Amino acid sequence: MAFTNPRSYLLAGLAMTALTKAADFQETSDNDCDCFVTNGTDAKYFTSHKFYDFRSLSQYANVPEPINDPQDSSNAPPASDYFKQSPWADSWGTQAWNNSGNQDDEAKLLMVNSLSNVYIEKNRDQDPESDTFLTLRTMRHDEFQSAAEFESIPMSYHFLSARMYARTVGAKGAISAMFTYRKSDDPNLIQEADLEIRTIDPPDTIQYTNQPSYSRTGDTVSQATQNATVPRSWEEWSVHRVDWHPKTTTWYVDGQNVSQIGFQTPRDPAQVIFNMWSEGTVWTGNMTRGDAAYMQIQWIELLYNSTGDATTNSNGNVRHDVETKHVVKRKNDGCKMVCSVDESHKIGTAVLVANDASLVKGVYSPLGFAFASFVTLFAMV
Ligand SMILES: *[C@@H]1O[C@H](CO)[C@@H](O)[C@H](O)[C@H]1NC(C)=O
Ligand SMILES: *[C@@H]1O[C@H](CO)[C@@H](O)[C@H](O)[C@H]1NC(C)=O
Ligand SMILES: *[C@@H]1O[C@H](CO)[C@@H](O)[C@H](O)[C@H]1NC(C)=O
Ligand SMILES: *[C@@H]1O[C@H](CO)[C@@H](O)[C@H](O)[C@H]1NC(C)=O
Ligand SMILES: *[C@@H]1O[C@H](CO)[C@@H](O)[C@H](O)[C@H]1NC(C)=O
Ligand SMILES: *[C@@H]1O[C@H](CO)[C@@H](O)[C@H](O)[C@H]1NC(C)=O
Repeated sequence: MAFTNPRSYLLAGLAMTALTKAADFQETSDNDCDCFVTNGTDAKYFTSHKFYDFRSLSQYANVPEPINDPQDSSNAPPASDYFKQSPWADSWGTQAWNNSGNQDDEAKLLMVNSLSNVYIEKNRDQDPESDTFLTLRTMRHDEFQSAAEFESIPMSYHFLSARMYARTVGAKGAISAMFTYRKSDDPNLIQEADLEIRTIDPPDTIQYTNQPSYSRTGDTVSQATQNATVPRSWEEWSVHRVDWHPKTTTWYVDGQNVSQIGFQTPRDPAQVIFNMWSEGTVWTGNMTRGDAAYMQIQWIELLYNSTGDATTNSNGNVRHDVETKHVVKRKNDGCKMVCSVDESHKIGTAVLVANDASLVKGVYSPLGFAFASFVTLFAMV
């Protein structure tokens, strides 16, 4: 289709949506998107999109037997080949560290992260929504707690909207978490935006924090953290979303804004981490021997920008991010093809919501989003 001026784009776009008689935008490939716009009252534009789908991986389903020896737990191999290959192995590092170096005065239990606690499992729900999901397990053994963690290999996420479709089930005395993490040797300079579910807490409360939430003197920094009431039990499947923006962190459950913290919002590039753990302390709870708790995830979706040790290649079109080995498209010419995953009916797949940002005067301007909303409203009339 060849359009000669922006006005004809607009008219043709409206005519096409009117014809489909629904707010259906055209599905598109990520490669055709210059940027991705998020929804809500604080919409932002991101350059990149990733989707990790654990729903149809029955060939990799395998629940490893619990390992009761800490050293063996530490040395366990990956639960299946899924974790040894792309896309997992390119994006996530499954962890095997333990806390033996930092069991301070608080009588912490030995906690060992084990590759055997991160696995693909068959969905045995009564009316299953998927064939499989990813499970993170933490278990109290006789002498220690085994735990589960995976960290993003890129450390260069610089603002994002991260979503997971997940639930937390099992015994009291553990924490499931999804968070951004910026390391520092000084605990007071660590930067984190945290979602933490404590299984000792009621199923309608979740703790959200821009870390650090303790001062040098050990007092709680109350502006840094919120114990929020959420509209759906964390034991049930729901979409947990964190929007880490330059001025605020906002968390959503099933699209509902449940917490926003502007204090101490992380500033610098960070990793994204998921874990399920316990150290037997007051904060995590103290799990009963032989018990276990699980975070189960059907999918993870990331909309993000990244910064890092970037260099531009000779043709000036591709940025090779040295730190992450990811190649990202440069957006020097702005965002013409604006995509959304929120407006899509198919989880993980983008739709095109505006095909020439020049129509709305300006690149990455909030007006770009207003245009998209206008089309949606029009189509629903
Ligand atoms: C989220 O809710 C808080 C508290 O009601 C409000 O102050 C904030 O503006 C909301 N943020 C967004 C992005 O909706
Ligand atoms: C992401 O990067 C684009 C391009 O540089 C920029 O326009 C946009 O505002 C950034 N998003 C956020 C949330 O910083
Ligand atoms: C804990 O980690 C240390 C340092 O990596 C390692 O030497 C030790 O074997 C680990 N302990 C267990 C029980 O896995
Ligand atoms: C959060 O609030 C609930 C309900 O009042 C309470 O039971 C729970 O202990 C609180 N959690 C934290 C971490 O303060
Ligand atoms: C946790 O429980 C164990 C017994 O299961 C006990 O030895 C330990 O002191 C408890 N820790 C805390 C912090 O209460
Ligand atoms: C944003 O999109 C999500 C789906 O990704 C949806 O659940 C939520 O209700 C939408 N929020 C708004 C304010 O439209």
